[in-house]
Amino acid sequence: MPNEAVGAEVEFRDLNKRYGHTKALDHFNCEFHSGELVVLLGPSGCGKTTALRALTGLMQVDSGQIVVNGRDITHTSAAKRNMAMVFQQYSLFPNMTVRQNVEFGLTVRKVDSKRRVRQAMEALEMVGLANQADKYTHQMSGGQQQRVALARALVLRPAVLALDEPLSALDAKVRVQLRGEIRRLQLQSGLTTLFVTHDQEEALAVADRVGVMKEGKLQQIAEPWELYNEPANEFVATFIGESSRIPAVIRDGSAFVGDQEIPILKTSTKRTNGEATILVRPESVQLEMVQPHVPRLANQGVVKNLTFLGSTAKVEVEMPSGITLTAQITPSESMMVTKGQRVALRIEPKAVLAVAPDDVPQADPIKVVTRVEEKQPSQVS
Ligand SMILES: Nc1ncnc2c1ncn2[C@@H]1O[C@H](COP(=O)(O)OP(=O)(O)OP(=O)(O)O)[C@@H](O)[C@H]1O
Ligand SMILES: [Mg+2]
Repeated sequence: MPNEAVGAEVEFRDLNKRYGHTKALDHFNCEFHSGELVVLLGPSGCGKTTALRALTGLMQVDSGQIVVNGRDITHTSAAKRNMAMVFQQYSLFPNMTVRQNVEFGLTVRKVDSKRRVRQAMEALEMVGLANQADKYTHQMSGGQQQRVALARALVLRPAVLALDEPLSALDAKVRVQLRGEIRRLQLQSGLTTLFVTHDQEEALAVADRVGVMKEGKLQQIAEPWELYNEPANEFVATFIGESSRIPAVIRDGSAFVGDQEIPILKTSTKRTNGEATILVRPESVQLEMVQPHVPRLANQGVVKNLTFLGSTAKVEVEMPSGITLTAQITPSESMMVTKGQRVALRIEPKAVLAVAPDDVPQADPIKVVTRVEEKQPSQVS
């Protein structure tokens, strides 16, 4: 289908929405560039659906502005916003065929029947269901029904596409397949797309940028690589990917584990001296086998758990200090590790987030982060 929709620029300016005492959106600021797929990610109840509903006009915010292509649409009705939304539940009409479902929005817009059929078939072609147009939706699988829902949204040629957990009712394999298709269609059509999920892997896989939310506030918005490697705060660091917490000391703005220096991100604690915790990714923890006769050293611990994950494996190691570190290893390395075994750990001196016990949340959580140069591996105890 030749899609004439040009991706809109969207801006949320200081949006607030309360439900009783709950701040569903709390000074929520975010910008979406033309043709970009932004994922909003966050735990249940953090305000993701509220942000989508505010965008599409299904709900009015208490204050703030929604600006599309420079025009304030905060008080424009949903019908006049030219946006389409796909929900978690398929929400198709069961008494209509697939094609009639896709045509529905065009009927509402009083498009003549010939054009309606042509455009509906083009949209079904895009999602690979043109040959199923005459089926009823109850005759289709969950993944197919969500494709119909997607065609129903695309046929409207919206300025913005809003997807609220469109894949979460599907099984894992279909989910992965369909998220790839959504991304392909989005890139083809150039639609500015806001995709909501609480699945971090899904977010990192499809997004141009991911916005992480907590309690109605945007914590950080960044490209997947940056979000993972340069988190703006502890919440983002622990919500995206895994990390081990290691006690450290901050001296003159650097973190020390024993006498080994670990560079820290600019988003770390503003304290320049004192106790802190550093958050280290499993792939930055390296593991070495220790022969039983070698004397026990501070950087040696005992394997408490081993998880085989197919293409990788994770080992949890309890250190003499009582802390547990997670290391990512290869499947072949995992063959050589057993529970109860003594191993030595090293941390790659890659910049990590350091947090101090009395850190207060930053007033402005969105920061520019610069990468710190890498150094040689250091020991950990
Ligand atoms: N209509 C409503 N009435 C009262 N409270 C509401 C309403 N809609 C949302 N809330 C509350 O606002 C907060 C944000 O809800 P929202 O649905 O946006 O969360 P979410 O991030 O989409 O969560 P989930 O991942 O579970 O879908 C929650 O605390 C929720 O209980
Ligand atoms: Mg929701």
